[in-house]
Amino acid sequence: MKKYIVKGGKPLQGEVPISGAKNAAVAILPAALLVNGTCRIENIPQISDVSLIFDILADLGAEVRTINPHAVEINCEHIRSTRTPYELARKIRASYYMIGALLSRFGRAEVPMPGGCNFGVRPIDQHIKGFTAMGAEVTIESGFIHARAEGGHLHGAQVYLDVVSVGATMNVMLAAVLADGNTVIENAAKEPHIVDLANFLNSMGADIRGAGTDVIKVRGVPQLRGGSYSIIPDQIEAGTYMAAVAATGGEILIRNIIPKHLDCISAKLLEMGVEIDEQDDNLLVRRTGALRSTNVKTQPYPGFPTDMQSQIVAALCLAEGTSVVTESVWGNRYRYVDELKRLGANIQVDGKVAVVEGIDHFDGAPIQACDLRAGAAMVIAALAAHGTTEISCVHYIERGYEDIVGKLRGLGADIVAVETPDDTDAAVKVG
Ligand code: EPU
Repeated sequence: MKKYIVKGGKPLQGEVPISGAKNAAVAILPAALLVNGTCRIENIPQISDVSLIFDILADLGAEVRTINPHAVEINCEHIRSTRTPYELARKIRASYYMIGALLSRFGRAEVPMPGGCNFGVRPIDQHIKGFTAMGAEVTIESGFIHARAEGGHLHGAQVYLDVVSVGATMNVMLAAVLADGNTVIENAAKEPHIVDLANFLNSMGADIRGAGTDVIKVRGVPQLRGGSYSIIPDQIEAGTYMAAVAATGGEILIRNIIPKHLDCISAKLLEMGVEIDEQDDNLLVRRTGALRSTNVKTQPYPGFPTDMQSQIVAALCLAEGTSVVTESVWGNRYRYVDELKRLGANIQVDGKVAVVEGIDHFDGAPIQACDLRAGAAMVIAALAAHGTTEISCVHYIERGYEDIVGKLRGLGADIVAVETPDDTDAAVKVG
């Protein structure tokens, strides 16, 4: 079992490079299944969710050649199966992208019901609605989603999404790429990773217009060819380091980002008294004075991202006054609040709303990461806390943050990862 031990109270100082976007990578890598040729993909984050996708692709028969720790060449000309392995695919939410990609290229797919972080009901009815409109028959049997295109090939269709869904938008886009005719996705999500997936597919020969708006038009093409593509920087990883410096104080340069993607996060941090200077593809983030409270409501892009909700709550705990946070994307994304309370947080949750009363400081204690972003919030709180905090279940954090321990140590934080055979015998491993 791996834990992080954090001695808090040190302001962050220095530079941190941002890795490729997790939620773009986990869609772009399955999209390689659509390509008839070799695609080179760069700026891939080294995180466990991405490793799982590589394992699934290899199991299906893809040839994956590592060029360097952040770049691969993938060739999917000799795919031998359209059934993804249960034990691998059920662990990760993004395995559902295999359905759109396999269905579009081979006319069939069998993929386990997706896993991922547990924050309430996570239906995929809108994905299925899209596939069905395009001529697929979709059934769920023994934990697997079975999808078959009528006549072996999907056709274009008009798909109106009843909820703004990142996953459904990308999955229908994947399915439409090689379908016969035109597909129109209405009420589409607009996140930067949706634009990134469309750019990747277009660079391989797809015909997708409108990504980044709420109407996406896909003209089906007979096949995609190989090419080369670099994944965008991770908006949420960057936002997490911004929230961290808000909580600890100090000054950090966040490198290799697209500042525009961070506007929704910067706006809230500015209201909280954090100073932010944009410098080309870097942001200088500084907090010297007291933090101020503010209200936050999560929304689809360009609103404040739900994937930053727990991290900003960790910082708001240390702000002067009362903040009201409304989670409007997921039904149950406050499970981490009880862990923050162990450090002294004063938060009342009622349904979708959390009322955060500012406290003077956190006091270190043993706490647990209960999902990926909640885990990041635990790290932020621990960095700001007086004394030592021990964070367990950090495998959740490593699903989505590349080398978080090394990056924070580079910012002067006192954090180490330790391997513990059991709870009592901690053998220190340099983080
Ligand atoms: N929804 C439906 N039906 C569907 C699909 C979604 O009702 O068929 C609802 C969901 O229940 C939710 C809302 O629509 O209330 C939005 O869900 P969405 O489909 O956008 O989420 P997702 O695609 O499953 C991705 C990210 C999440 C992120 C959300 C929202 C990936 C692999 N996951 O999930 O990221 O929270 O979009 O931005 O891209 C994370 O990175 O920590 C994470 C959880």
